[in-house]
Amino acid sequence: MSNDITNIYPSFDKILTRKDKEKLLNQNSIVIWITGLSGSGKTTIAKELELELHKRGFLTKLLDGDNVRTGINSNLMFTEADRKENIRRIAEVSKLFMKGGVILINCFISPTKEIRDQAKEIIGEKDFFEIYVNTPIEVCEQRDVKGLYAKARAGLIKNFTGIDSPYEEPVSPDVEVKTEEISIDESVRKILGILLPRIEFKKD
Ligand code: ADX
Repeated sequence: MSNDITNIYPSFDKILTRKDKEKLLNQNSIVIWITGLSGSGKTTIAKELELELHKRGFLTKLLDGDNVRTGINSNLMFTEADRKENIRRIAEVSKLFMKGGVILINCFISPTKEIRDQAKEIIGEKDFFEIYVNTPIEVCEQRDVKGLYAKARAGLIKNFTGIDSPYEEPVSPDVEVKTEEISIDESVRKILGILLPRIEFKKD
């Protein structure tokens, strides 16, 4: 048997770091967190943003209610405790992706400061890029893309954000877009202007 102690933990040499992954992908990984009311346009903006980032060679992963609440979080509802758990799991999963060098684009109402602070704490402040899609509730309600506001008003859905459940506006997001005033394209351009310097690969 060999006494060579350099071989006791040989796998340490083989552990790839976040930096190695970022270098491979030529990007700085980050979590883009898009908050706003239901129907505010979070996912629409996120999809357009993802397309623009893809064109520029960035590897992203988009998470939203459609792929998270139907899968990993299908056992959660909309009580305060469930929303908190929803966001906690999303933040933990995002962190894993991020450590693998990927840029996350997360679209969740994440209605309270406490819930967003929890996500920020899990992910880490410097890797948390907050976007507030600011669309007044009257506009969201008028659009009512999924017909949920009408149901909430009729009392068929309880704890609906903005109706009988709170939404607290973020105090100092990295970017705020007012979808009533600017188009989706303009919103995405505004976001890219601030985001691109943050995700362009830096050696250290
Ligand atoms: S969060 O509050 O936990 O962040 P999340 O973004 O995952 O919410 O899900 C919101 C989506 O779920 C809404 O866009 C809407 O389609 C649907 N939904 C169903 N019930 C509710 C409700 N009570 N409040 C808000 N959204 C709801």
